[in-house]
Amino acid sequence: KGQLQWGGRFGAGPDAVMQAINVSIGFDRKLWAQDIAGSQAHAAMLAKQGIITPEDQAAIKRGLEDIADDIEDGRFGFSDALEDIHTNIEVRLTERIGEAARRLHTARSRNDQVATDFKLYVREAIDGILAQVKDLMLALAERAAEHAATVMPGFTHLQTAQPVTFGHHLLAYVEMLGRDSGRLEDARKRLNECPLGAAALAGTSFPIDRFATATALGFDRPTANSLDSVSDRDFALEFLSALSIMAMHLSRFAEEIIIWCSSPYRLISLSDAFTTGSSIMPQKRNPDAAELTKAKTGRIFGHLLGLLTVMKGLPMAYAKDMQEDKEPVFDAVDAITLSLAATAGMVRDLTADTARMAALAGSGFSTATDLADWLVRVLKMPFRDAHHVTGRIVRIAEERGVDISELSLAEMQSVEPRITQEIFDVLTVQASVASRTSFGGTAPQNVAKAAALWLEKLK
Ligand code: ARG
Repeated sequence: KGQLQWGGRFGAGPDAVMQAINVSIGFDRKLWAQDIAGSQAHAAMLAKQGIITPEDQAAIKRGLEDIADDIEDGRFGFSDALEDIHTNIEVRLTERIGEAARRLHTARSRNDQVATDFKLYVREAIDGILAQVKDLMLALAERAAEHAATVMPGFTHLQTAQPVTFGHHLLAYVEMLGRDSGRLEDARKRLNECPLGAAALAGTSFPIDRFATATALGFDRPTANSLDSVSDRDFALEFLSALSIMAMHLSRFAEEIIIWCSSPYRLISLSDAFTTGSSIMPQKRNPDAAELTKAKTGRIFGHLLGLLTVMKGLPMAYAKDMQEDKEPVFDAVDAITLSLAATAGMVRDLTADTARMAALAGSGFSTATDLADWLVRVLKMPFRDAHHVTGRIVRIAEERGVDISELSLAEMQSVEPRITQEIFDVLTVQASVASRTSFGGTAPQNVAKAAALWLEKLK
């Protein structure tokens, strides 16, 4: 036991430091199920092509099934001396079934093996994340339908800009997550070519059927170039890029949750289930899940840059540098999985303070644009002139410490004599959002329709 696979040429075992820097079983054991699936497909193909006997394949099949059971039940002793998951499984198989196991590695190398395992892992991870994103989009669309007409302040520069509806704001994130899903689906399509059978780098002299193994493992086709097959990690990079953009979206939303929950804003609140307390300040209710979602973005961005850096100087074909591809991807998957779950949890948990939202929506002269639009529509004033007139009216309101809707008609007319009583109809926040009926605008009827469309698409 512990005898390395290339023992023929090697007289002595590795130095302890050599083993320490080389070993990957601590993390690549995560790939055990993919590794066994790849070996099963490979052995079945070898038998079908007459490269190994049906008896050998049957022994390999049973042996690998037993190993899968052992690993699942925690009975498999992973060994550092056996470097990685591929060697651990193959050596254990040899111990169990003998000779036949020693034929499994015909027409295969760990280089095409690991590329195949890792692609299978990323493909599954994409499917899991896509399901989670869909759940988050569903949560957002449901809350958006509920709050299609709930008015809140809309911001630019984090300064009160114009009233919008809370539902409209939530649906903005549904759009972003929809694009995130598209990026993952796209990456999945490009990933779905099977490297198995590329062998070490040059292909093999055995009459293998790469189309058969590709199909057996759910790939669309085999990869076309053996050098590229074993040295490509674009699929991992593309995955990390898509996750980075998604994490950036989750981080922006998390920051909004933090702002909305903050004492000066108080637009929403989170329950005990999604907040933590302070060990010293009894009044505190902190949005830690949002903060950590925001912070986990750092890991994901870092992993993208880390792996790009690993890859950027590698000549064809495989180099051990590429063993550093797994931990960043595994960690990014953990980070995004938690972030998506926490975000969906907060979306379902949050309570909107609709009275406070309406009050803040009306502050900061948020309907000034509606006043200017009225001057254009009713008095046929050029917009630039209307902007100027409105600015002077805002200044009067500001000096008096009131909202523009609280000015008298006489005060308005001191700036523009043609203004009539009707102006007051457009200065409420409800009138403001109701008027934004342009395609994609925040009018409650638009928002209700958009939320319904998303719900239909997602269900
Ligand atoms: N543990 C290796 C990895 O993760 C497997 C491939 C090893 N190939 C080799 N020629 N050393 O990349």
